Amino acid sequence: MCGIVGYVGRRDCAPILMEGLARVEYRGYDSAGLAVAAPRGGLRVVKRAGRLARLHDALPRRLAGRAGIAHTRWATHGEPTDANAHPHTDASGRIAVVHNGIVENVSELRAELEADGVALAGETDTECLAHLIARAAGPGTALEDAVRAVLARVEGTYGVAVLDAEHPDRLVVARNGSPVILGVGEREMLVASDVAALVRHTRQVAHLDDGELAVVEAGGFRTLALDATPTSKRPFDITWSIEQFDKDGHEHFMRKEILEQPEALERALRGRLDDRFATAVLGGVELTARDVLGIRRVKLLGCGSAYYAALAGAQVIESLARTPADAEPASEFRYRDPVIERDALYVAVSQSGETLDTLVAVQEVKRRGGRVLGVVNVVGSTIARECEGVYLHAGPEISVASTKVFTSMLASLGLLALYLARVRDLGPADGARVVAGLRALPEQVAAVLEGEDAIRAVAERVAAHDSAFFIGRHRGYPVALEGAQKLKEVSYVHAEAYPASELKHGPLALVSPDLPVVAVLPDDPLLDKNLSFVQQVRARRGPLIAVTQPGGEAAHHAAAATGEGLFDEVLTVPACEPELAPVLLTVPLQLLAYHAAVALDRDADQPRNLAKSVTVE
Ligand code: F6R
Repeated sequence: MCGIVGYVGRRDCAPILMEGLARVEYRGYDSAGLAVAAPRGGLRVVKRAGRLARLHDALPRRLAGRAGIAHTRWATHGEPTDANAHPHTDASGRIAVVHNGIVENVSELRAELEADGVALAGETDTECLAHLIARAAGPGTALEDAVRAVLARVEGTYGVAVLDAEHPDRLVVARNGSPVILGVGEREMLVASDVAALVRHTRQVAHLDDGELAVVEAGGFRTLALDATPTSKRPFDITWSIEQFDKDGHEHFMRKEILEQPEALERALRGRLDDRFATAVLGGVELTARDVLGIRRVKLLGCGSAYYAALAGAQVIESLARTPADAEPASEFRYRDPVIERDALYVAVSQSGETLDTLVAVQEVKRRGGRVLGVVNVVGSTIARECEGVYLHAGPEISVASTKVFTSMLASLGLLALYLARVRDLGPADGARVVAGLRALPEQVAAVLEGEDAIRAVAERVAAHDSAFFIGRHRGYPVALEGAQKLKEVSYVHAEAYPASELKHGPLALVSPDLPVVAVLPDDPLLDKNLSFVQQVRARRGPLIAVTQPGGEAAHHAAAATGEGLFDEVLTVPACEPELAPVLLTVPLQLLAYHAAVALDRDADQPRNLAKSVTVE
């Protein structure tokens, strides 16, 4: 949940580190710092609580040095203060460490250091690592051996980068549960927790695996396991362009990424629709027809919005492939000692491919002999490397709130459902119907985006309230969950989602003129039933906003013609194949959340208490 950047090479590193920190600031932003190996020896460390701008202001005018490490923090151990900001150094100032993750046996390590007379300057778990590495890096001990020895004692997760004043020509980095990526440049090397910090300098990257260290020098790198056995690692090219990491004139990445959805969906579908056999072509999936026929159940796993996408995906898989399918938060699954079924297919859904709960769930399923597919956005990420699977190709998602990746997940899970279904019972005519429906999505989403002004007006009215309900059922329910999630995470308006049919079992008690209710109403066989649930809200005078399709809109107008309309506001998305309706119905809710955040003067890109890719528990 924090960001790491490191550099060693031929250039002064401070500007490179600062630029890299700006790129990963979305991963943590309550304090930041850097350490640079000074040309005349020693380390120069500058760190500040607060946003990156405060660190920038604190930097000396001249800060020369060709090796350095930097960090942007989202506090876990200890308050966000100058002292707790990374990098942390040992008492002599020889060793500097930046760290993502959590050292679980920190109390034991702190006690040991204190018993040895070490005065700890702050409250973080990371500081212990700096003292321990300095102690281990005695005369004749290579830095990597000292780092190895200390990490072998650490319980918990880490991505770490270590700088040593006595070896200013190198960095030592290591990972266990928190990403570390090496960027290979021209007589220079970078390290980062996220490719966003590397793309300006190189397209060649290599991901460290858990339990791996790298010794990084200007001319290249070598990797080794914690027991010193050399490992081999070949860099690969990233295809994301630098422009994709820029705001491109938008005030927020969130809006930019919402508007990018037509292209993101095009990319997710490109080359994957097969008209001849009315099916999907999924290059990374190695399931044979025999394997597919043997699947008795599909279990999807993800966290947060990825879990909501998984819920929607389970519905499409079950309805098209006629295979029981359900979704579960990966964070719950991993802790409940689940039965792993041999004839089940497990599907892990993740934007970052680094979310720890999802990753551990994947590893647990694999360890017990289960088969896991990944539906992942970040190429080369840990979950992507752990499983066969489907890349989303949505491009980098910088905004903390997931938008374009969410709809790409829905489309990709639609592809997976089609693929499974066409091996099983779905006939070619239905297959062709779904192929055409998927192909139409980018244009239909573009049409929804054209309604932004109307959605902004609705958002401003919602923003005037403290709370909102989102209701939906069947295919509308995961959309309602995602709508509520988006609204609360970026605007801080309290929002809850319910299956529409559950309202009468309790929550209706809260419906009042001060509680807007957003009803997600796909045009499907449940529409009439859903409209009758809406009457319960009407009766309690709750302001009603429908996000619906032409059938829902027509019902509203028909009611209006004979007296009162059904809703106070109607946001209509195009008609589509019913299995794909969640893609279109989600888009107005993203814009609703975004414009509510803007109306309330929130920073939509950096919601409080949230960080992109949750790599700690
Ligand atoms: C919400 C959001 C989070 C993520 C969740 C999983 O907008 O972005 O809820 O969906 O943290 O992250 P990934 O998909 O990277 O595994």
